[in-house]
Amino acid sequence: MHVDLLITNIGQLLTMDKKGPVKGRDMNNLTVIEGAAVAVHNGKVEWIGSAEEATEFQADRTVDADGKLVTPGLVEPHTHLVFGGSREKEMALKQQGVPYLEILKQGGGILSTVNSTRDASYDDLLEKALFHLDRMAMHGITTVEAKSGYGLDKETELKQLEVAKEAGNQHPLDIVSTFLGAHAIPPEYKEDPEAFLAVMAEMFDEIKEKDLAEFVDIFTETGVFSVEQSRKYLLAAKEKGFDVKIHADEIDPLGGTELAVEVGAISGDHLAVASDEGIKQLAASDTIGVILPGTSFYLGKDTYSPARKMVDAGAAISISTDFNPGSSVTENLQLIMSIAALKLKLSPEEIWHAVTVNAAHAIGRGAEAGTIAIGRKADIVLWDAPNYMYIPYHYGVNHVNTVVKNGSVLYE
Ligand code: NIG
Ligand code: FE
Repeated sequence: MHVDLLITNIGQLLTMDKKGPVKGRDMNNLTVIEGAAVAVHNGKVEWIGSAEEATEFQADRTVDADGKLVTPGLVEPHTHLVFGGSREKEMALKQQGVPYLEILKQGGGILSTVNSTRDASYDDLLEKALFHLDRMAMHGITTVEAKSGYGLDKETELKQLEVAKEAGNQHPLDIVSTFLGAHAIPPEYKEDPEAFLAVMAEMFDEIKEKDLAEFVDIFTETGVFSVEQSRKYLLAAKEKGFDVKIHADEIDPLGGTELAVEVGAISGDHLAVASDEGIKQLAASDTIGVILPGTSFYLGKDTYSPARKMVDAGAAISISTDFNPGSSVTENLQLIMSIAALKLKLSPEEIWHAVTVNAAHAIGRGAEAGTIAIGRKADIVLWDAPNYMYIPYHYGVNHVNTVVKNGSVLYE
């Protein structure tokens, strides 16, 4: 049989082909196929079998994996992809011990990026987003969630969402968009956060009509939006047909994890200081915990999300970079896999579930991304690594050898 692409002599193949998000102890059950081959045709996975059987195929292109690791393309379920400027000057404030929320209170942090994003042209934002997407792709990511939230006014929020959509049209990676208009309180509404939330909620219809976002997200945090304000806003979003997400329990334990479960959020993100009760509720729910240990690292925290407890309690979790210009400035999800091993004490098996199948479910792409399965789109990464444990182990560098996106070789 003739196919477009054949990847053969695979040392270890992880197909991650499981139904539904993988919860609790099941995250430790990883199926590893040795000596495998994968055939790709018309952008899709055509066949999975042994390297011996693969000799039957004629392929336009054959990639000899030479005993290397092959996995699904990584899924990145939480980024702030589109923004203007950068915030390297805040590094000194961080070194002096000025807390993240204090920098924000003084009009810096997120609000500094809001100014740069309001000032930036559509074209500049697009060029920058495409650059970051290239870097994610080089690091083995093939599907990316992207949030707005650096406009905090109608015009700039729409500009960000439109840039994300266009970036998805122009770039081979798939983009899943989230409206995070409720990311901070802009100076214009400093005294009246509820009026600001009402303005953002007025955008729901237009965002739906123009198909600019699938999810609505909010930053539930001290000095930003309260649990009550978040509940009301998210329920209004659900009424308009959006699935919802929450930046929950990132810095102060306000009960954002419990709120995520209560409103049936598709994911509760950060959960760095989730309570035991929150963990219990999460484990009993369909909400996926998207854990961002790179953010805890970058904000200089001594404690990390109790992700170990979550998995042990039976929750489904994912991990992500949280790529953004303030609290986690990296496109390298492999680095986050190492931090997850060292600081969250997750096993390599749990980590691979967290960056593939579970990440896909956390952004509503469980049926198409995060697995290698016959008939599904061929998003595949070949790694310069002899086995799956090697990626979290050898940290801080890029192990990608070849990235296949929709059946085409994107990087090699
Ligand atoms: O997920 N916490 C809120 N939002 C981002 C940080 C955004 C920024 O600092 O620019 C986060 O950590
Ligand atoms: Fe975030």
